Amino acid sequence: MTILVTGGAGFIGSNFILDWFENTQEELINIDKLTYAGNLENLRTIQDNKSYVFIKGCITDQSLISKILNKYNPRLLINFAAESHVDRSIYKPSEFIQTNIIGTFNLLEESYKYWQKLECKLQRDFRFLHISTDEVYGSLSVNAQPFKENNRYEPNSPYSASKASSDHLVRAYFHTYKFPTLTTNCSNNYGPYHFPEKLIPLTIVNALNGENLPIYGDGKQIRDWLYVKDHCAALKRVIEKGVPGNVYNIGGWNEKTNISVVELICKHLDAIKPRADGKSYAKQITFIKDRPGHDLRYAIDASKIENELNWRPKETFEMGIKKTINWYLENEIWVKHIKTGNYKEWINNHYSKDYL
Ligand code: NAD
Ligand code: DAU
Repeated sequence: MTILVTGGAGFIGSNFILDWFENTQEELINIDKLTYAGNLENLRTIQDNKSYVFIKGCITDQSLISKILNKYNPRLLINFAAESHVDRSIYKPSEFIQTNIIGTFNLLEESYKYWQKLECKLQRDFRFLHISTDEVYGSLSVNAQPFKENNRYEPNSPYSASKASSDHLVRAYFHTYKFPTLTTNCSNNYGPYHFPEKLIPLTIVNALNGENLPIYGDGKQIRDWLYVKDHCAALKRVIEKGVPGNVYNIGGWNEKTNISVVELICKHLDAIKPRADGKSYAKQITFIKDRPGHDLRYAIDASKIENELNWRPKETFEMGIKKTINWYLENEIWVKHIKTGNYKEWINNHYSKDYL
C-alpha cells in the first residue's frame, strides 16, 4: 500500500516521514514545492529508502496531483503543505491564499475524483487527513476555557483565515459528497527541524549567535506547546482510528507565556553552553513592537482525542525543550545552511526597524 504526503519537507511533515519509516516500510510519496520552508536535508537519512519517493511540485497543480494519485494509488492523503508563518502572512498574504485555500481545494477535488473510481474496499478505507491549526478558533482571554472542536471559528490573521477557509472546504466535501475526510487542529509544535523564524528555534539560534532575542509586546501572550513527535503519534492514531467527518483537537496541555519560554531556553543554555562572559543569555532578551492583531492566548482541550482515540502527549516541556536545544547544538550545519539566502533577507527586513 501507499500513502501520499504533501509538504513533507517542512518541519512537521519531515518529522512525520522520519517517524513513519522508523515503524513501517509502507511506500510514502512526498510532494513538496520546496518553498523557503521546505528542506530536503531534513530527510537525508531516508532519501535512499526504496519505499520513499520525493516529487517536487505544487499542490495547486491540478494535472500533477491527478497524475500522482492515479499512478501511485494511495490509500491515504495527508495534507501538511501550507504557508505557515503568521508574520509572513501579515506582510504578504497572497501565497497563503494560493497554497492554503486553492491548494487544499485542488487536493480535495482531485482526490475526490480519484476516490470515486476506487473499487469498493479501497474506497471504504481511503482517508483524506487535513492538518490544521488551533489558530482558526481565534484568541482566548486568560480565564476562558480551552478550545473544543465545536468552538466558533474566529480567525484573526491572514494565515489563520486561510487555514479556516481550507477547514471549511474539507468539512463541505465530507458533508456533501461523503468523501472520507479527517481534520486535526493542533497547537504550537516545537522540536527538531523547526525553521528558525518561529519563536523557539529563533530564540535558540539567536542566543547562540549573540543576537537579540526578540519578544513582541510584553511577552505575556500564551501558547500551548506540543513536542512535534507527540503530534506525529497523534496523527498516526487519527489515521488508524479516526472516524471520517470528525475533527480532532491536538494539544500539549502545556500553556506558557512567550517570555517564560524564552527565559527557560536561556536558563538551559546557561547550564549547557554558558556565554563566554559568564552572563546569562537572558541579557539578550529585547522587547520589540508587537505583532499586528497579535492573538493573546491559544489553548487546546484535547480530551476528545484522549477519550475517543486514547492519545495523550508523552513529552514534558522541560525535557522536550532540552532535547530541542541539544538538537540545535548538534546540527550547526543544518542551521548554517538555512541561514544563507532567503532566511537572511526575511530576518533583516522583519526585525531591523524594531531593533533601532
Ligand atoms: P512549514 O512551513 O515548516 O512547512 C510547510 C511545507 O509545505 C514546506 O516544506 C513547504 O515547502 C511546503 N509547501 C508550501 N507551499 C506548498 C505548495 N503550494 N505545494 C507543495 N508544498 C508546499 O510548516 P509546518 O510547521 O511543518 O506545518 C505543517 C502544517 O501543520 C501546516 O498546514 C500548518 O498550518 C500546520 N500546523 C503547524 C503548527 C506548528 O506549530 N508548526 C501547528 C498546528 C498546525
Ligand atoms: O498555534 C499553532 C500555530 O503556531 C501554527 O498554526 C503556525 O503555523 C505556527 O507558526 C505557530 O504560530 P504562532 O504565531 O503562535 O508561532 P510563532 O513561533 O511565530 O510565535 C509564537 C509566539 O511568540 C507568538 O505569540 C508570537 C511570539 N513571537 C514570535 C516571534 C517569531 C515573539 O514574541 N517574537 C518573535 O520573534
